[in-house]
Amino acid sequence: MSKTKVLFAAAEAVPFIKTGGLADVAGSLPYAFDRDQYEVRVILPCYTCISPRYRSKMKDVMHTVMHFNGRDRYLGLRELDLNGITFYFIDNEDYFGGSGPYTDYTYDIEKFTFFCKAVLAILPIINYQPDIIHCHDWHTGLIAPYLKTTLNWDPFYQNIKTVFTIHNLKFQGLCGRDFLCGISGLPWHLFAEGALCSGSGGNMMKGAIQFSDKITTVSDSYAEEIKTPEYGETMDGMLQWRSPDFCGIVNGIDYETFDPKTDPSLAVHYDIDTVAKGKAASKAALQKELGLAVEKDSFLIGIVSRLTEQKGLDLIIPALDRLTKKPCQFVVLGTGDYIYERTLQEYAAACPDRMKACLLYDEALSHRIYAGCDAFLMPSRFEPCGLSQLIALRFGTLPIVRATGGLKDTVIPYDKAGLNATGFAFENYDWGGIHWALDVALDTFLNHRRAWNAMRKNAMRQDFSWPSSAKKYEALYRDVLG
Ligand code: ADP
Ligand code: GLC
Repeated sequence: MSKTKVLFAAAEAVPFIKTGGLADVAGSLPYAFDRDQYEVRVILPCYTCISPRYRSKMKDVMHTVMHFNGRDRYLGLRELDLNGITFYFIDNEDYFGGSGPYTDYTYDIEKFTFFCKAVLAILPIINYQPDIIHCHDWHTGLIAPYLKTTLNWDPFYQNIKTVFTIHNLKFQGLCGRDFLCGISGLPWHLFAEGALCSGSGGNMMKGAIQFSDKITTVSDSYAEEIKTPEYGETMDGMLQWRSPDFCGIVNGIDYETFDPKTDPSLAVHYDIDTVAKGKAASKAALQKELGLAVEKDSFLIGIVSRLTEQKGLDLIIPALDRLTKKPCQFVVLGTGDYIYERTLQEYAAACPDRMKACLLYDEALSHRIYAGCDAFLMPSRFEPCGLSQLIALRFGTLPIVRATGGLKDTVIPYDKAGLNATGFAFENYDWGGIHWALDVALDTFLNHRRAWNAMRKNAMRQDFSWPSSAKKYEALYRDVLG
């Protein structure tokens, strides 16, 4: 029997380009499918900011011109095989130049519309006909609308199915309706009648929700939440309407990349049997590296995150006093909104032995924080899945989370499960909630060490590696192919 051919389309994938969890998923999930039955390839933009380490290894596959937004544009395709998975890269330096994958929002709309059209344009040229295109987030939102409208006369495309995964409903690719209609060349009636517009604006993700054969998101709880007005970002009605074809599949993480036993970024390695010693040494090393007081009994709490409203920064800021008072210490690694960055920096400057703010993106340092902290704070306002808490669990660092979306589905709270717990969770998004959870965690750390140590082992015993989620995607693919 021939293998099912799946093409992942995404704006980011590790190890080439990453700003958040989307990259972890698009770059690691392809490796988890049964290779005897599925042949998964990945297509990304060929950003000039991808490291020369990878760019130099890419092979040119073809180049042509594609008519787009009023003129003929260069369209190149490059390819790189990484550990048995083929990665394709759509090349156009005008669109994918610059120091990062995203520029300003309007330009991003244009460049990802180009990306969607280009992904489909190259397929017949390279004679590659996937059974399924699995699209991720709004950047790929127009692929399904193109397939189901302007391209549906062409037998080459007629049997290609689409799956669309929502990683974050907050970002939908909103823009002017006439602008999106003009650049995409998609029929006007899609914009007039609603498939590609919300209110009077254009909406790329809505097109994907309307036209994809199946829709998924990255946890069961978030799948339920976004069918309600509170979390639905105006798409709740659409998602309810599509609910027979919509489900949640929780994310995993790559257990080789995130492994305290072998992690090359760590000076001290440990596993579940050596966690007590290993974490104590990792904590001392981290405190020293960050210039914090080296104190084994201080409760060291870490954050590795985009510094935005989604991640609960407006609960964290008022909690800073508490977080930086003895016997707590606090480290944050992240970049984001100026106001949060500045406030964190000011607090850190005022108490350098208790708090450190690292306002940068640093993969290796993030691993040392996951390993060296006692607890990991993630009080998100909403969280489609969240990978950081999964990484924290893997490193035996207990998550303190708000019980929402994927956080609710992956952290077992102490107040409900006692010694079987893996972390701490509060329900309501308010200061009372976060203070309560921080107090319970601190009390457990200081006064109930046996419980703390048991929870740490439970955390490390959890299995959030990819195989079980990959099986669910395989079942979904079988379903979509009938
Ligand atoms: P989101 O995708 O919403 O940002 P996730 O928890 O799904 O949140 O994924 C975030 C990923 O990005 C994790 O792998 C996390 O470790 C990583 N990350 C976030 N900020 C930084 C940073 N400043 N430095 C290094 N890694 C970071
Ligand atoms: C998004 C979400 C995050 C999720 C990630 C990968 O960035 O904010 O919760 O883990 O995508 O699916």
